Amino acid sequence: MNVPAIPLAGVIGFPIGQSASPRMHKYWLARYGLVGDYVPLEVSESQLRNVIQTMPQMGFVGANVTIPHKTAVMQIADHLSDRAILVGAANTLIFRPDGKIHADNTDGYGFMSNLRQGAPHWNAKSGPAVVLGAGGAARAIIVALADAGVPQILLANRTRPKAEALRSEFGTRIKVVDWVQANTALEDANLLVNTTSLGMIGQPELRLSLDYLSPSTVVTDIVYKPLRTPLLEHAAARGCVTVDGLGMLLHQGVPGFERWFGQRPEVDDALRQAVLE
Ligand code: ATR
Repeated sequence: MNVPAIPLAGVIGFPIGQSASPRMHKYWLARYGLVGDYVPLEVSESQLRNVIQTMPQMGFVGANVTIPHKTAVMQIADHLSDRAILVGAANTLIFRPDGKIHADNTDGYGFMSNLRQGAPHWNAKSGPAVVLGAGGAARAIIVALADAGVPQILLANRTRPKAEALRSEFGTRIKVVDWVQANTALEDANLLVNTTSLGMIGQPELRLSLDYLSPSTVVTDIVYKPLRTPLLEHAAARGCVTVDGLGMLLHQGVPGFERWFGQRPEVDDALRQAVLE
């Protein structure tokens, strides 16, 4: 009797031990009673192409890609989604039955779904967003915010030319603000997003005066270690609705899981607990 192959997925990065993705996908597999598995894969840059091209032959139906391979993987895939092209990076691979490798970027989707779940009253069109940072995460978030109809993005980065480069690339909806004056941009903000690593355990703190921050501004952080960053704590103390960064990670995994295993998974408190354990 022929036993069908077990569909496999995984997360490719270097290092990979810290990734929460295996816990999340394994939780979903168990919760929906699906046959399948999801493994961490520590892969060096020199082996990336080799590994990805061999995975379909080993029963893999897809993979997530994380630091430092999100850009390099674009050269290896056969098809790129419009979103991946726009962001310039991919985090989700689908190994198609015809042997082709499709690459997508779901980070912006994860960011926006998390924001909508955590701050359902937030209306993209009703005011500017202040974005701190101009790295890879900021690119995905800026694309998602522009797509959602945010009228203006006030972008502050320690290295100002990197913010200017994003403005040249993504257009005049972005206004570059000096890093040391980012606090003054908060006054009219409808949303404040930290996309830098500041505030993460082991990193310097984010030094930003919130004196001009209004209680009606929604504040979110992509840092989720700690879950309640000092930025979120200080903003909450001023009366702001705050949305932590763990949800972005959880939501970005949804489209991949659905494509690989055929079930759209839920992001809820039970999942958060399972991932935090
Ligand atoms: P990611 O892909 O997670 O966005 P990244 O591309 O390395 O990572 O970007 C990190 C971001 O955090 C950048 O905006 C970086 O600012 P610079 O462009 O000036 O490097 C910001 N960042 C990191 N450490 C910082 C610090 N000590 N002070 C201010 N910004 C910092």
